[in-house]
Amino acid sequence: MSNYDVVIIGAGAAGLFCGIEAARRGRRVLVIDHNKKPAEKIRISGGGRCNFTNLDIRPERFLSQNPKFAISALKRFTQWDFIDRVAGAGIAYHEKTLGQLFCDGSSQEIIDMLLSDLEAAGGALWLSCSVEAISESDGFSLTTSKGVVTADAVVLATGGKSIPKMGASDFGYRIARQFGHQIVETRAGLVPLTFSGYLLDQTKALSGVAVETSVGCGDTSFSEGMLFTHRGLSGPSILQISSYWREGREIEIDLLRGARFDQLLREDKSKHGSLSLRNGLARYLPKGLADQILDELRLDGNFGDLRKDEIERIADRVHQWKVLPQGTEGYRTAEVTLGGVDTDWLDARTMESKHQKGLYIIGELVDVTGWLGGYNFQWAWSSGWAAGQVV
Ligand code: FDA
Repeated sequence: MSNYDVVIIGAGAAGLFCGIEAARRGRRVLVIDHNKKPAEKIRISGGGRCNFTNLDIRPERFLSQNPKFAISALKRFTQWDFIDRVAGAGIAYHEKTLGQLFCDGSSQEIIDMLLSDLEAAGGALWLSCSVEAISESDGFSLTTSKGVVTADAVVLATGGKSIPKMGASDFGYRIARQFGHQIVETRAGLVPLTFSGYLLDQTKALSGVAVETSVGCGDTSFSEGMLFTHRGLSGPSILQISSYWREGREIEIDLLRGARFDQLLREDKSKHGSLSLRNGLARYLPKGLADQILDELRLDGNFGDLRKDEIERIADRVHQWKVLPQGTEGYRTAEVTLGGVDTDWLDARTMESKHQKGLYIIGELVDVTGWLGGYNFQWAWSSGWAAGQVV
C-alpha cells in the first residue's frame, strides 16, 4: 500500500499543473493516468503546436450553467502567469491570430516543461495505471491496477469525453456522481457540423474549399474561416458556433463578410454589363461556390441582365445563407465536451467539492468550456493552479 498527501487522477493539462503546484508546496503528490503516455491531448493540440493560451482571456468566452464560476480561477492564475512559465522554460512562441499563442516548435515542449517541473518538485507519475474504485473514510483509499493507494485529498482531472481513442473516459463523471455531484448534460463542442440531403450534396461538392465567413446562431456569431467538407461544414467559425448550436436550430452564414454584395452587384451591372454572372461572381467567391449559388437561384447570363430583385436574391443568399445542420461529428472529432460536473457544488476558489471534503474537480471535467483559441488550456491551467494551492 502506498500513501500520498494528494492523488491526482488524470495526467493531462489540468492534472499535471495541479500536481506541480501542490508538490512545490511540499505535498507528497502522485499523478495517475491509465494511458501509456501523459498529456496526449496537449501533444495533438493546435495542429501539433499547442495553442496554450490566449492573450485576451475573458470570462464571457467560457460556457457554463454558471457563467461566473470560472472568474475566480481565471483571475488568480492568468494567461500572463502561464506565459511567464512558458517563457521561463525557454519555449519560443508566437501569436497566430486573435490572441492565440502557439509554440514555434512543437507541443512536446509544453509536455516536457510540465513533466520536468513535476519531477523537479518531487511529484510522482504512474502511467498505464487504472483506478478501479475510490472510497472515503477519514481519507481516501484508491484501488488501482498497481495496488491500493491512500491519500488525504483526491483530485479528479480526467478531462472530457472527446477523442475516446486517446484515453477519454467517463470515469471522472462516475466518481463525481458517486460523491453526490450532478452532471450537467454533456455534448460535443468545438466540433464540425454535419448535413443531409441537398445541403450535404452542396458541401460535398465544395469539399476542401475555404471562405472567410461570419457564422451566427441566435445572438452569437463568430467571424472566422469556414471549410466545406464531405460531411458538412468545419473550420474555426463553425467549430465556435457548434458550442452554441442545438438540434433543430438553423445557423446563418455570411459568405462575404464585411462587404455589401448588393452594392457591388449594382456597380458591376452598371460598369461591367457584358460580363457573365459566373465569371463575375467568381471575382468575389470561390468559383465552385459562385456556380452553386447561381445554379440554386437558377440565374445565368450577364450582369447587364440582372433585375433588382435578382440582385437582392443573390445578396441574401451570400450574406444570409440559412442552413439546418443535421448534427455534429460527435466526440470522435470534438475538441471539447460541453457540460460536465455541475459547478453549484464546487468552491470556485479552490475547486473543492462542497459534498465531500478533500475531493477536488478540475479542468474539462467541470462544466466550464472555453471558445476555440487557447481558452480551454487556460481553464485547465487556472483551475489546476487553484486546486494546487490548497490540496
Ligand atoms: P485532458 O483530456 O487533457 O487530460 C485528462 C487525462 O485523464 C488524460 O491523460 C486521460 O488519459 C486521463 N484519464 C481519463 N480517464 C482516466 C481514468 N479512468 N484513469 C486514469 N486516467 C484517466 N485547447 C486549447 O486551449 N488549445 C488547443 O490548441 C487545443 N487543441 C485541441 C485539439 C484537439 C484535437 C482536442 C481533442 C482538444 C484540443 N483542445 C485545445 C482542448 C484541450 O485539449 C482540453 O480542453 C484540455 O486538454 C483539457 O485538459 P484536462 O487536463 O482537463 O483533460
